[in-house]
Amino acid sequence: MDDHSTFDPSQDPQVRRIFRKLAFISGPPDGDTQVAPLFPGFRFDLRLVAGITPIERDGALDFFIDRPDGMKGWIINLTVDGVGQVFDGAATFTVKPGDLLLFPPDVRHYYGRAAEADKWWHRWIYFQPRAFWRPWLEWERQSDGVFLLRDSGELQFSDMFRLFTEVEKWSVLDDNLSMDLAFNRLEQILLSCARADRALRSTTTVVDDRILAACTLITENLHKPLGVKEVAEHVCLSPSRLSHLFRKYVGTGVVQWRDAQRVQYAMQILRITNMPIKALSQVVGYDDPLYFSRVFRKHTNLSPRAFRERSMEAAALVQDREKEAPPPAVPPVGDA
Ligand code: FCB
Repeated sequence: MDDHSTFDPSQDPQVRRIFRKLAFISGPPDGDTQVAPLFPGFRFDLRLVAGITPIERDGALDFFIDRPDGMKGWIINLTVDGVGQVFDGAATFTVKPGDLLLFPPDVRHYYGRAAEADKWWHRWIYFQPRAFWRPWLEWERQSDGVFLLRDSGELQFSDMFRLFTEVEKWSVLDDNLSMDLAFNRLEQILLSCARADRALRSTTTVVDDRILAACTLITENLHKPLGVKEVAEHVCLSPSRLSHLFRKYVGTGVVQWRDAQRVQYAMQILRITNMPIKALSQVVGYDDPLYFSRVFRKHTNLSPRAFRERSMEAAALVQDREKEAPPPAVPPVGDA
């Protein structure tokens, strides 16, 4: 990325707000959706949480984030200022402004400010990906399961920074379409990264058109009982050839992928409507609500009801936060 030298992250109003809050607390604050996720113990069990962690030498956030078993969802991380260190011992590497990290689920997280730097500010997005994003969630460079994207002339730092900020902005708003907008920006980030990664690779994998057609058929007919046989007929392949090619390009089986799509759709409906679970299960293609709940739980570790409750609690927290009186103006971060 080439334009980070002209960009000044210290002007970010969100960071100023975070510093202001940190100045008044000694540990993780209860119920503050902006600062609580920056401390250990926060439960990241929603579909998407985004933020910025401005680590300053000897500040309240100056510790290593240490999650030996990783997380349930994915994380994408953009260094915006200073230098970060990932891992320790022989696996150690550092990241600087413009570098991107991608942590798949269950991969060890161990990162913090590099000892030689005064700060490490990074933006991050925790997410449960849409199933069709799978082919983009793999970059060529990796270390101990963590993907790294750097030195890409393709990506503009200011574009990436703006997209990360927008994901956070939309993800905390409480109207029906905001989460979709957050997902839309995240999709742009992941697509841009996949494109940049591809340009860095010597060979390019092009997804077979018949597999793309199969994906389109499934996503446009989530409510219908489409199985491998029906999809295979539609794209003129035998069921076993379809299964083979699907796994090769998408990374999962056809039915698994269809179920993941249905669950994503169900999550969206649960968040924004009061539709009874029985009716919902039919809308997303399951005649048997108990079976639907089992599939849903397999993908999210929550029942549909619990997921709806969690989403409502999160939305209520956001509303409370918006009701808070705006904090008084403070000088820029550097002057504190
Ligand atoms: C915060 C970290 C950030 C990211 C999110 C999920 O506490 O500061 O790097 O790991 O958690």
